[in-house]
Amino acid sequence: MYEIPVAAEGASVDRIYLVGVGDSSLSALRTAGAALGKKVRGKAIEIVSLCANTPDEIKAHGASLALGAYQRNLKTDKTNEVPQLVLATTESGAVTTTSAIAEALYTARDLILTPSNIKNPLWLAEEAKKIAEAKGLAINILAGKELARFGGLRAVGNSSPQPGPRFIEITYTPKGKAKSAAALPHVVIVGKGITFDTGGVSLKRPYEFMTAMKSDMAGAAAALATLGALADLQPKVKVTALMMCAENALSGTAQRPSDVITQYGGTTVEIINTDCEGRLVLADGLAYAKEKYDPDYLVDIATLTGSATLGLSRQYAALYTRDDTLAKEMVAIGEKSGERVWHMPLVDDYQDSLASDVADLNHAGDKGDYSAGSVVAALFLEHFVGDSRWVHLDIAGPARSENDSGENVKGGTGFGVRFLIDWIVSLS
Ligand code: BES
Ligand code: ZN
Ligand code: ZN
Repeated sequence: MYEIPVAAEGASVDRIYLVGVGDSSLSALRTAGAALGKKVRGKAIEIVSLCANTPDEIKAHGASLALGAYQRNLKTDKTNEVPQLVLATTESGAVTTTSAIAEALYTARDLILTPSNIKNPLWLAEEAKKIAEAKGLAINILAGKELARFGGLRAVGNSSPQPGPRFIEITYTPKGKAKSAAALPHVVIVGKGITFDTGGVSLKRPYEFMTAMKSDMAGAAAALATLGALADLQPKVKVTALMMCAENALSGTAQRPSDVITQYGGTTVEIINTDCEGRLVLADGLAYAKEKYDPDYLVDIATLTGSATLGLSRQYAALYTRDDTLAKEMVAIGEKSGERVWHMPLVDDYQDSLASDVADLNHAGDKGDYSAGSVVAALFLEHFVGDSRWVHLDIAGPARSENDSGENVKGGTGFGVRFLIDWIVSLS
């Protein structure tokens, strides 16, 4: 007979939920966690879950419990109370890990759900500073004239009235002996941080798509939140996050189709459609990362193309890399972390679409009609990574949820946080 455990003596229990956990797989435990979390969302209630036992189960179930309970809005009535989430287990290490992951997911969602009249690039830089200070991470922010070499970031971000674009660099180095730092694997994560994407003068169409574009900084948010969690988890890996922050506004100082810009490192790029702004800011970050660090792994994460969503919808991110072994490892990590990725091909036959009559490249792939927007965007980025071991994650689909379902609220999901944390920890 299965015994329902009794709460600690003296504690009062108002309600017991009997939750089906299907085949007890991590995926089923996540679904159960999200359902339980939703039951206490917005309420000052303590909920104790007895569903998970092993460390993997605790991580999967606990993170989804937290996500189900997540809520954020600017409503002025009093529905924003915070529940207390408890996992009944003796695996205290797994609970600590889960708390760090849940905190990072909340951080990413909070940033993504913040309206764009508040979260301009300066605001994002201030938030990054707060997190860096709280977690003991090194941070450096570039603005204005300091961005002279960042031609992509400037071309996009100068469309917006002050404050202009920001380049935010945050570094995590594990505590302990400094002399061993050189021997650690170094990961650089470049995140797309477009605080709002109107499309610029090639205005986004259809207009209904625009309201979702406050989440166009979800890649940068995931990178920042991941570094915060790493400071808690202390894996033996060095990680640098580069947040490429700009607003893609419609204004008199916006870039024009037919402009030619010079990216970080000197590559010239002809501007075709100013709504293809993400790859311009990422290209600067990738070239900077290669030149300054030549890292062991160079990863970018971005809500880059609607095409990725057309191909895979919202349950998978599109992953591009030439390293098949790494791709296999990442697909497995995605499956286990609950944030799945699908290995997509870098199709060299489509390279000619990036040709330009007036510059090294055109950024939109307008020289061909391959109907492969996500692949062509990835091919564009590849021009800036040199011989790095590079991975591109197009998270346009899973970064956002159109409705309140499962572990998601409508809007930002925090996708990338669990995946990146699990992958980086696996390198340690
Ligand atoms: N931020 C968008 C991509 C996007 C679309 C993210 C939908 C999330 C949901 C990106 O900057 C963009 O506008 N891409 C265009 C490229 C096109 C103009 C070649 C796209 O995907 O439509
Ligand atoms: Zn765009
Ligand atoms: Zn965009």
